[in-house]
Amino acid sequence: MRSMRQVRLNNGVCMPMVGLGTYSAENDEETTQEAVRMALQMGYRHFDTAKIYGSEPALGSALRGAISEGVIEREDIFVTSKLWSSDHHDPVSALEETLEKLGLEHVDLYLVHWPVKLKPGVVNPIPNEEDYDELDLESTWFGMEKCVEMGLCRCIGVSNFSSRKIKQLLGFASVPPAVNQVEMHPMWRQRKLREVCKKYNIHVSAYSPLGGPGNYWGSTAVVDHPIMKSIALKHNATPPQVALAWGLSRGSTVIVKSFNQRRMRENIGALHLTLDDSDILKIQKMEEWKIMRGEFFTNETTSPYKTIQDLWDDEI
Ligand SMILES: NC(=O)c1ccc[n+]([C@@H]2O[C@H](COP(=O)([O-])OP(=O)(O)OC[C@H]3O[C@@H](n4cnc5c(N)ncnc54)[C@H](OP(=O)(O)O)[C@@H]3O)[C@@H](O)[C@H]2O)c1
Repeated sequence: MRSMRQVRLNNGVCMPMVGLGTYSAENDEETTQEAVRMALQMGYRHFDTAKIYGSEPALGSALRGAISEGVIEREDIFVTSKLWSSDHHDPVSALEETLEKLGLEHVDLYLVHWPVKLKPGVVNPIPNEEDYDELDLESTWFGMEKCVEMGLCRCIGVSNFSSRKIKQLLGFASVPPAVNQVEMHPMWRQRKLREVCKKYNIHVSAYSPLGGPGNYWGSTAVVDHPIMKSIALKHNATPPQVALAWGLSRGSTVIVKSFNQRRMRENIGALHLTLDDSDILKIQKMEEWKIMRGEFFTNETTSPYKTIQDLWDDEI
């Protein structure tokens, strides 16, 4: 069975460079399962889900099917899921629930989805004022560490964490985060965060690596950008491949979602595209704009963040 290029994380675990995202607003089980089956055939070995996406059952069922048919072995795939904000009080139970939905014994990576704590049972992804609990990252992280100790996951990490929050976490973590999964693409390049994470040996994984074209919060600005088009033309590639090759060239894994066979093949093809220094320089000059801004986690009263600048510690 083909294997994919990988990065070695700070605890020695290896993570395949291109991951298939499984968030889709429709969350149709059959479509998701079919996409995962196709992805496995094309060589995808890394799958990204989260409790809040609702895609854990479909992903798990497709992976288990492929394992039982002998298409792949469990050790050949890398599965990530995430702790939703209303589960910060008990990461162990939340991960046990996730594993039950996936039908797997462990996940490879479990991430704190957002630095936001909501009251237990809050299911609305866009919280109301009364839904917030006081954020206590130290106790959340203690629960995440317990998940590793219990063998429920091989690695733990965070998502949507600024440089400042990463440093805070390192102040008390016994197990440092292996990964920070954040928005990153040619128009949101995360230069400062990448430097800080590099210093502390934390891998930066890129979500929305194409800018999320077609998502309700996404943008086509990246894939339609004239600079991306010109670089693509030069390499006989496509703008989405250039966007992904840029993320890979920065040493990041890219978590890209497509459930369309042609686009999934196009995206994994980015592994064969190498950008040169002049391409990288052109991309560095592109204007920047963060697409996932997180306004829904801010308010004047109960959220720890009054503004998005508080949420991202001015890295926006
Ligand atoms: N940690 C977090 O907070 C967080 C936040 C957002 C996302 N994520 C993860 O990252 C994954 C990817 O992020 P994302 O979905 O926001 O952004 P994305 O991968 O940049 O974009 C996905 C969108 O682009 C379309 N697309 C994919 N390949 C394409 C191509 N070659 N040409 C043109 N369009 C293409 C897809 O539609 P089709 O399916 O029709 O191809 C889909 O609408 C998610 O599924 C999720 O797993 C994590």
